[in-house]
Amino acid sequence: MHMNGYRCIACAEAQATNFAGFVCPCCGGNLEITYDYAAIAKDVAGGFGDGQTDLFRYAPLLPVKETAAPFPLLVGGTPMYASPRLGESLGLRNLYLKDDTANPSASTKDRASAVALRRAMDIDAKVVSVASTGNAGSSLACLAAALGLRAVVFVPEDAPVAKLTQALSFGATVLAVRGNYDDAFDLCLAASEEFGWFNRSTGYNPFTREGKKTCAYEIWESLDGRVPDRIVVPAGDGNLLSGIWKGWCDLRAVGLVDRVPKIDCAQSDASAAICLAVRRIHDMGESNPDWSTIVIDEVKASTAADSISVDRPRDGLAAVKSILQSGGETVTVPDEEILAAIPEMARTTGIFAEPAAAAPWAAVKQMVRDDKIEADELVVCIVSGSGLKDIANIRKTVGTPVIIDPSIDAIKNASVA
Ligand SMILES: Cc1ncc(COP(=O)(O)O)c(C=O)c1O
Ligand SMILES: [Zn+2]
Repeated sequence: MHMNGYRCIACAEAQATNFAGFVCPCCGGNLEITYDYAAIAKDVAGGFGDGQTDLFRYAPLLPVKETAAPFPLLVGGTPMYASPRLGESLGLRNLYLKDDTANPSASTKDRASAVALRRAMDIDAKVVSVASTGNAGSSLACLAAALGLRAVVFVPEDAPVAKLTQALSFGATVLAVRGNYDDAFDLCLAASEEFGWFNRSTGYNPFTREGKKTCAYEIWESLDGRVPDRIVVPAGDGNLLSGIWKGWCDLRAVGLVDRVPKIDCAQSDASAAICLAVRRIHDMGESNPDWSTIVIDEVKASTAADSISVDRPRDGLAAVKSILQSGGETVTVPDEEILAAIPEMARTTGIFAEPAAAAPWAAVKQMVRDDKIEADELVVCIVSGSGLKDIANIRKTVGTPVIIDPSIDAIKNASVA
């Protein structure tokens, strides 16, 4: 393992590899995992993984022991599709969709859960916990079941029923907290400390970002080593976004790429804490402020895109830094446009996204309207979760089927033949 410690995202204070906490002991900031990139560069010079297709093919760039048994489910290795017809609808000639709905629990969260669970096993943890809007919980439950570990999942009471049902089916203890995601997060933190559980909660646990970053490596490999101009990422806590940026920074640090993409942040305008923070820093005329002084203001989130409905982004600072360092855009879109993007994507590409996962396409449309994307740019949208996870909201945009009697005449009368 080439991990060589931790560094605080806010105050840059370093910790050794054997540090047992999750957040910076000096300022409480989130940590990032650091590596010996020179050693990794030697390991990966000949490529990754030797035929292995899951995300552990990138083991030299992951904070896990390399001796472990193969992971029981295939996490990562998801397809990326060129989407010419969807792109052409806006005059874009190089649009791609990274289909992370193809993960075991049908969301990108499996990347973070897989790496966090491998870490939990490396340190002999017996019970794993998570706070979740729904997907992280169903993901942890799924992968913990495959590994034979016990999972405790904290969700807001109104989490979509499909996500709760997944977690329950996988045998997790599911605690639906009277309150929102932020309440569930705080309770999971307190309970994990009290009972000694390994807390996989997004952002707070630095291993989650390490899982998410593998999405960047896969995009790079799918493009045969080309680098996109921009990657459009939905953001709630901001961990997926900061993970994807870290992935590109890793590739650059080991000499596999010499340029990196812009990382654009797609949020609902009803849950936009990260975009608002970036805009405030821009307004101050800063692009590289003293990060230890940056405060991300809370919002009162109320978006229908439940996976990105977050008052207080738990990896907000890392996300803000990633957007500013990459030169990405902040794009806020109304919920109606997010919901409308779902059937548009589905009808043109065959990919069925949940609301949060359609936010990047809605954001691309907004950027085109604002003249922020050129026709030839290579743009990748991250499709982070399956539409099957939130049928109730999606149904509002596609309506119901035509109900007919079982006869040919009924088809003729319905004018569909
Ligand atoms: C489908 C989906 N998309 C996007 C996100 C946003 O990820 P993050 O909270 O790391 O910003 C989530 C998080 O739950 C998700 O489930
Ligand atoms: Zn710190």
